[in-house]
Amino acid sequence: MSFYVALLLAEPIFLPNFEVENMKKVIIDCDPGIDDSLAIMLALNSPELEVIGITIVAGNSPAEMGFRNAKKVLNFLGRLDVPVYVGAERPRVREYVNALDTHGEDGLGESFLPDVPEQDIPEQSAVEFMSKALKGGDVSVIALGPLTNLAKLIDSDLDAFLSIERLVSMGGNFRSHGNCSPVAEYNYWEDPDSAKVVFDTLYDHHRMIEMVGLDVTRPIVLTPEILEDMKKKNPVVGDFVEKITKFYFKFHWEWEHIRGCVINDPLAVAHFITPDILSGIEAFTEVETGGISMGQTVVDSMGFYRKDSNACIYTQVDTAAFWDLFLPRILEIRR
Ligand code: BDR
Ligand code: CA
Repeated sequence: MSFYVALLLAEPIFLPNFEVENMKKVIIDCDPGIDDSLAIMLALNSPELEVIGITIVAGNSPAEMGFRNAKKVLNFLGRLDVPVYVGAERPRVREYVNALDTHGEDGLGESFLPDVPEQDIPEQSAVEFMSKALKGGDVSVIALGPLTNLAKLIDSDLDAFLSIERLVSMGGNFRSHGNCSPVAEYNYWEDPDSAKVVFDTLYDHHRMIEMVGLDVTRPIVLTPEILEDMKKKNPVVGDFVEKITKFYFKFHWEWEHIRGCVINDPLAVAHFITPDILSGIEAFTEVETGGISMGQTVVDSMGFYRKDSNACIYTQVDTAAFWDLFLPRILEIRR
């Protein structure tokens, strides 16, 4: 029996309600999105993190829908105090292509949860918020969607971008095949020009991005068995997760013959919290912006270009360690 299955069968674990010293301030830049929602749930139930804001980018869902979905998730968590800002509505150069075929027509797995009333889009944009919040130098960004907002931040306030403490991005792929083309992953394929600006700027300024790509997210499959156990342990959370992932299950079966669904985005949050889950290599990496390989992350693992590394590319994942972190925290949510 694997460790995480044993964990599911065990009694629910309740985390003590404590303030962790040195809580890390983070901004979650996302496009909710089914797995983005699970990532938000994990982040807000992790005592190591202080989520100072959620910024929305057009990706899986159009930006305004992403805003409404983030509010629905925050409402479920009883955390409407977390501010949500809306950012880019389209990619830097190319036409916007949403992923509602994967995430359902409401972007939340066709759960059709009602909108949270009286939630207006703030006047301050996502990029303006980031600009201000990042100035102190102790704020990190976990990017779970296309990198459009971050490229805009580079355009308008390079100093703020360079003040990001850690930049973790779910996106890209190295040895794994893509999920939008043979070689490209959705977040970087949707806005390859922004992804390229981000990677190139990091290279120019001797900084690194932590790339949590498909190589490590593909094995993170929420199976029907895990979901059933979640429902037994915490019916309210289990039902919520079932509502938003049902559509995703169908999509994965039809397209990839996977029972269950790959939940990419929570892995980036889990990795931010602990270094124990992922390992990989450091390499110079560039994003292709056009042609048949648009959105591909070209990882120079052999050092052909003799260029300094601008990315940690994760290649190995300890799936048991992921579930060990994710499940107790999600199951602890009480509504
Ligand atoms: C990424 O694209 C979206 O479908 C998911 O939310 C994730 O961020 C995976 O390619
Ligand atoms: Ca996402």
